[in-house]
Amino acid sequence: MNRRTFLAAAGACSLADVDRLLARGDLKGKLSRADLPTPALLLDLDAFEANVAKMTRFARERNRALRPHGKTHKCPEVAKRLIRAGAVGCCAAKLSEAEAFAKEGVTGLLVTTEVVGRHKIERAVRLASRHKDTIFCVDNAQNARDLNEAAGAGRVKLNVAVDLHLGRTGVMPGEPALELARQIVSLPNLKLAGIQAYAGSASHTTGFEQRTRASREAMGKAVETRRLFEAKGIACPLLTGASTGTYNIDSEIDGVTELQPGSFIFMDVDYNKIGGAAGPVYNDFDNALTVLTTVVSKPSSRFAIVDGGFKAFATDRTFGPAPKNIEGISYRWAGDEHGRVDLASPSAPVEVGARIEFIVPHCDPTVNLYDRIYCLRGDAVEAIWPISARGMSQ
Ligand SMILES: Cc1ncc(COP(=O)(O)O)c(C=O)c1O
Repeated sequence: MNRRTFLAAAGACSLADVDRLLARGDLKGKLSRADLPTPALLLDLDAFEANVAKMTRFARERNRALRPHGKTHKCPEVAKRLIRAGAVGCCAAKLSEAEAFAKEGVTGLLVTTEVVGRHKIERAVRLASRHKDTIFCVDNAQNARDLNEAAGAGRVKLNVAVDLHLGRTGVMPGEPALELARQIVSLPNLKLAGIQAYAGSASHTTGFEQRTRASREAMGKAVETRRLFEAKGIACPLLTGASTGTYNIDSEIDGVTELQPGSFIFMDVDYNKIGGAAGPVYNDFDNALTVLTTVVSKPSSRFAIVDGGFKAFATDRTFGPAPKNIEGISYRWAGDEHGRVDLASPSAPVEVGARIEFIVPHCDPTVNLYDRIYCLRGDAVEAIWPISARGMSQ
């Protein structure tokens, strides 16, 4: 039975039909890019695997641990593949994201935002007691005391989160961080794991030289703080930070023990724009993530309308999606459900029913809009991975 006949027999044309195919397993050769209901989130497996191989090799060669950030993918299957490739674990932005990863067997979790409030602290302690290698972050003494009290006899591992110019969370590096570390080591149910040092403003600095300066300055403060802890007799085995924009900068800094980049697995227009060590386009990693859309209307020869708008792409950037499979066209937002594609000089026909694939403006919040990711080998759908932590922002 060929694919078309199979699909005709299975009646595969809607999400429910795709679900039925999934439940039967054995997707290979039965579903292709052309069959997918749009808008659909796609992963080019060859590009994804190359990105994973490049980053894991990079970290290994520089003797740095790698704990990629799961906020990018929210997908346990991706986390497990990274761990199989050599990562020590997976960062999670929020407690509920970490719980979703833990439920699917992801190990080595590091929750990079503070867990505050009785209810969440109880959940955090439960997670820590079941998954003993989980690390949480704190930036104030009261939160540390609350965690200590809830932890009882069980031990909760904590990183001191330092603020490196983001003006968001984190205690100031240096003496204030030392004071917090002292509090943590004085409490019986807590264990100090190390320092959480994400320099977010450096990550997206445009221009490799400017980015290098910004990241060295920021991470320098974290490294000095680690030295201060150790000079005062407080063991600090972990200094974790870095991003897709700074992995090759921070890994050169003595004292940074672990890298936690996220976007490198997928990439997006935002990261392409920041410039790489070799030129104005950052292309250390391949664009593996796209959203597939369909042309649903062509009101004029000058533009067409696709079925992907604000609900198909995150809109937190000043620029829109970039077309991947057709040149000479550009995208403009046209509402919740639609995008307008201006047809300056299209390299392929753009008629009603045509498929247009876009690199997304910003990968993390775009992934959070989808329940599943279709994994393609060439045009064939090889797997469909649930984005289980999608919407887990608590
Ligand atoms: C705490 C933390 N670490 C690491 C990262 C990874 O950054 P990127 O996706 O830019 O590689 C982020 C991203 O926002 C983050 O918030």
